[in-house]
Amino acid sequence: IDPALDLFDEIEKLKKQKNAVLLAHYYQEPDIQDVADYIGDSLGLSQQAAKTDADIIVFAGVHFMAETAKILSPNKKVLLPDLKAGCSLADSCPPHLFKKFKEQYPDHLVITYVNCTAELKALSDIVCTSSNAVQIVESLPKDQKIIFGPDKNLGRYVAKKTGRDLVLWNGACMVHEIFSREKITKLKSRYPEAKLLAHPECEDVILEMADYIGSTTGLLKYSTNSPASEFIVATESGIIHQMQKDNPFKTFIPAPPNNNCACNDCPHMKRNTLEKLYLCMKNEWPEITVPADIIVRAVKPIERMLEISA
Ligand code: 13P
Ligand code: SF4
Repeated sequence: IDPALDLFDEIEKLKKQKNAVLLAHYYQEPDIQDVADYIGDSLGLSQQAAKTDADIIVFAGVHFMAETAKILSPNKKVLLPDLKAGCSLADSCPPHLFKKFKEQYPDHLVITYVNCTAELKALSDIVCTSSNAVQIVESLPKDQKIIFGPDKNLGRYVAKKTGRDLVLWNGACMVHEIFSREKITKLKSRYPEAKLLAHPECEDVILEMADYIGSTTGLLKYSTNSPASEFIVATESGIIHQMQKDNPFKTFIPAPPNNNCACNDCPHMKRNTLEKLYLCMKNEWPEITVPADIIVRAVKPIERMLEISA
């Protein structure tokens, strides 16, 4: 890349030339968020992907998100700046093992958190995100038996909120499992007025302490609407960029991890860079492909989710 190029300008030009829409998750680096057409949580991004009339969807996020966009808009070209931008939670649920697990509970309905592979979605009845998981479980009859996967932390949280007994897959996200209850408690004594915001992928010991639990969009809205001026944020640190932009006079502190070597960055999300984004728009590569038979099966549970959350 010519170092004299202004990548912001170049990306804007490519969007127009190619009729491309740029969708970015809140965990992307600040530059990518600033050049995006739409920034959102997993639900918002999939709603955008389903309704866009652009020819190309450029997905600044991780693989399962771009895959979901492709499943919803199979005739569009879907680009991901780095194909290796995966997800530890999706990796914690290999479809062949989940299939065997599911066979043990033949009378159960399968709800999968969107953070999973297309193949796993194809084995599901309904998909959910962190913003609608409770609503989706509550939309089902009380006596409906349910398997929930792959995130055991979100699953436990939903079971508690709905009073339902869910059969959980034992998966988790590497970023949301690092927060330390002890260190957050110490931090709270230094900032006694601070509200603790937590994503439901966090472990229950963290969720028990939280003042608000929600998806990234939920956490952002709460921080804007709350009269509080200090917040401890227990999720990936990328969200703090928008929190700070929307609330320049409030203070946002990343929740401390349990190990001094760890940080709240998702190594998968952070594989995307402005340079890779520019190159992928210019070269229209790497492109996401999903086998046609998987699309046919995976689209139904995603559309069911979108109908319930409309
Ligand atoms: P949401 O943005 O839907 O809350 O998801 C968080 C996440 O971990 C995405 O990978
Ligand atoms: Fe996956 Fe966790 Fe990264 Fe989200 S934050 S993409 S769940 S590894």
